[in-house]
Amino acid sequence: MNPTPTPIHEAVREHYAERARKSDSCCGSSDCCGAQNTLYPAELLTTVPGDIANFSLGCGDPVSLAEFQPGQTVLDLGSGGGLDCILAAQKVGETGRVIGVDMTPEMLEKARANVQRLGLNNVEFRQGYLEALPVEDESVDVVISNCVINLSPDKAQVFREVARVLRPGGRVAVSDIVTNGPLPEAVKNSLDGWAACVSGAIDVSDYVNAMLAAGLQDVQVTPTYLDEAMVDEVINDLKGQVDLSAYPREKINQAVFSARITAVKPQ
Ligand SMILES: C[S@@+](CC[C@H](N)C(=O)[O-])C[C@H]1O[C@@H](n2cnc3c(N)ncnc32)[C@H](O)[C@@H]1O
Repeated sequence: MNPTPTPIHEAVREHYAERARKSDSCCGSSDCCGAQNTLYPAELLTTVPGDIANFSLGCGDPVSLAEFQPGQTVLDLGSGGGLDCILAAQKVGETGRVIGVDMTPEMLEKARANVQRLGLNNVEFRQGYLEALPVEDESVDVVISNCVINLSPDKAQVFREVARVLRPGGRVAVSDIVTNGPLPEAVKNSLDGWAACVSGAIDVSDYVNAMLAAGLQDVQVTPTYLDEAMVDEVINDLKGQVDLSAYPREKINQAVFSARITAVKPQ
């Protein structure tokens, strides 16, 4: 069952469809794409071709955080170009299984092509929404996600879905953007800012409470870094649309940060 897409889903989907299309037009199968991916330890990326490793729209490294065991079933929320699914598939091995869910067809197409190119047969990608995961109850050992839950207009529902699909004792290991205090209304209301992973970010205590309310436990939050470029992008998008003089850069700067977040579903 899919939720009725909101204007936020539409704006986010269009933004990421374009990101998927653009990287296709610039990249063949060589290392020509963008900047070096510094979110992950370099040795983790040595098993993946450069163009796949560098097509990362995340804000952290949920793969190292997850500490996968061979044979586990992994679910990646908002799998994008598939990098985290590929790395997870290599960790859980042939007896394990990885499912990536994403709502954007262009991203799914890219992720499937990447997996096929690497000859991995323990990864599949499903089209769907985080708010209504196309995944059976209690079938997953570890849920990962990289900079996606902030994009959902209904985070409480996402965490209920996470709790539904996890096996008892299963783990959550995500990288995401959260805030320390409220964002200015003008930022919160910007669809461009939402797609850029800033406007949808919520206060870290609300994020943790939504996880606890869904039945997850032992929630741990480790702040990592602030992505200055991401905040700049949002501020630039808003210029000309709203008067930003009431929202000094430092105020937004102090509010938005990226974090590693883990939790468990009780036995
Ligand atoms: C910031 S990108 C991150 C992609 C990937 N995790 C990575 O690290 O490169 C966000 C991805 O999540 C997907 N997405 C955003 N909101 C979603 C939702 N509510 N349901 C399903 N997919 C969503 C987008 O289509 C996009 O591919």
